[in-house]
Amino acid sequence: MRILLTGGAGYIGSHVALVLLEAGHDVLVLDDFSNSSREAIERVEELTGRSIDTIECDLADQAASSAALRDEAFDAVIHLAGLKAVGESVAQPSRYYRTNLVSTLNLLDIMAEHGVTKLVFSSSATVYSPAAEGVLNLDESQPSGTGITNPYGWTKAMNEQIIRDVQTGRPELEAVLLRYFNPVGAHPSGRIGEDPAGIPNNLMPFVTQVAIGRRDHLAVFGDQYPTHDGTGVRDYIHVMDLAEGHLAALDGLRPGVEAYNLGTGDGQSVLDIVKAFSAASGQEVRYEVVAPRPGDVARAVADPAKANRELGWRATRTIEDACRDSWAWQSQNPNGYAGR
Ligand code: UFG
Repeated sequence: MRILLTGGAGYIGSHVALVLLEAGHDVLVLDDFSNSSREAIERVEELTGRSIDTIECDLADQAASSAALRDEAFDAVIHLAGLKAVGESVAQPSRYYRTNLVSTLNLLDIMAEHGVTKLVFSSSATVYSPAAEGVLNLDESQPSGTGITNPYGWTKAMNEQIIRDVQTGRPELEAVLLRYFNPVGAHPSGRIGEDPAGIPNNLMPFVTQVAIGRRDHLAVFGDQYPTHDGTGVRDYIHVMDLAEGHLAALDGLRPGVEAYNLGTGDGQSVLDIVKAFSAASGQEVRYEVVAPRPGDVARAVADPAKANRELGWRATRTIEDACRDSWAWQSQNPNGYAGR
């Protein structure tokens, strides 16, 4: 298939592009490069020996995106483009709602104009409502779309609802909502990886930047949670496993809308990650415990059984693999991609 991949130059998008090309698909990337790099695309081309067609365009600009895609043919869409920083979304809610919602609306219109029915959407574990007491691992039947603590998370939940409503009006639409847990790691070559602009918001890029000496120490956000060591527990999934989940989702599309968790089913604490990363990299990661970050939960771990059962997908890489590959990326590219 020829697949339109929005946000294909970003961290997750570049790994998805690579996996699609290696599976024999053709890839058309649409990206505005506001938080991504052309170099990522070039490196995926190098790694795969295949070329990627690229359109620079802001999907939230209806006229521009519809014109840019007018003469393009594609069989399916993987929609990753969007703003994704939780804290920034609290400070700039209008920008987040406008960008993330309007992009999806425009894309759904473009798909209808082109008669394209296949859609894989990048959603997030953040759409789940706060877990009831006693619920350890979240499955897709858990309530979602209430009690979300930031506009970024709301845009993911609202986009899920938009896709469901559009599918009701266009029953031939085949959509999968992929609820990512915490993506980490990099391609094992160390050629592509996560290159956040400015100070990293997320744990793994912060840890790798401490290890390479770009940051003095990690601030651990709270150590009094009801977890095995008091620090927050998450389900860290290797980005290559996550990327392969998109391929499985494409193969599993059928009319309707289905949500799937992409996670490992295992929980790791912040201190577990610090230890695993130090062991994998041989670098000390200095840290200091500070106050909890507002909006954080103690634990968010997937039940990935549905994706395993229905898509035939499961995460196979370990946290040690993820730490080794993150370090390969960070140590070979201490300042990320050039020109960032
Ligand atoms: N953490 C620290 N110090 C840091 C950064 C993070 O201690 O400098 C801790 C957090 O408190 C949390 C864990 O590391 O316990 C993971 O934090 P991240 O910011 O890496 O990830 P979150 O789980 O907060 O958020 C991620 C994605 C969101 C997504 C959410 C869904 O970044 O986009 O998962 O659960 F919405």
